[in-house]
Amino acid sequence: MNHYLPSIMSIRTIISLPDPLLRKVSTPLTNIDGATKALALDMLETMYDAPGIGLAAVQIGITQRIVTVDLARGDDPKDPHIFINPEIIWTSDDMNEYEEGCLSIPDYHEIVVRPSKVGVRWLDLDGNPTERELDGLFATCIQHEIDHLNGKLFIDHLSRLKRERVIKKFTKQARRELDE
Ligand code: NI
Repeated sequence: MNHYLPSIMSIRTIISLPDPLLRKVSTPLTNIDGATKALALDMLETMYDAPGIGLAAVQIGITQRIVTVDLARGDDPKDPHIFINPEIIWTSDDMNEYEEGCLSIPDYHEIVVRPSKVGVRWLDLDGNPTERELDGLFATCIQHEIDHLNGKLFIDHLSRLKRERVIKKFTKQARRELDE
């Protein structure tokens, strides 16, 4: 999939908690064009640079329903996935837990429980509708990223106490950075 990685890509800035943009619902794409492809490539580049395994466009400040995922580890070859307008069409009854993190909530990790298998429908970069059953880390990752498209963060799956604690911490930190 090296054709996905031309040299014109650029690394974008990832926004972080408490940026209000993270709470916006992203808009479905009605037209996939060169700009969509360029944006998806920038998202991959930004995700690899971070490094992270998933990124939603809103995390670089663009409220369009685009997600990138790559679960390849270490020296394994890259395995980029681009999801346009992704939707969960079904979820399994059995649940799975993973320790999640988020590029927009740096250095914070907590266990989140989610359905262990999901059916996902999306458009590929050529606009073709695609459907796939995902499980394991891929299922968790796509649910986390689709949450982003709906203005939801993984901390929303935690207890109110934990969530408020982390929001407070990041709000204080942002204020400190403004003061400096
Ligand atoms: Ni995230």
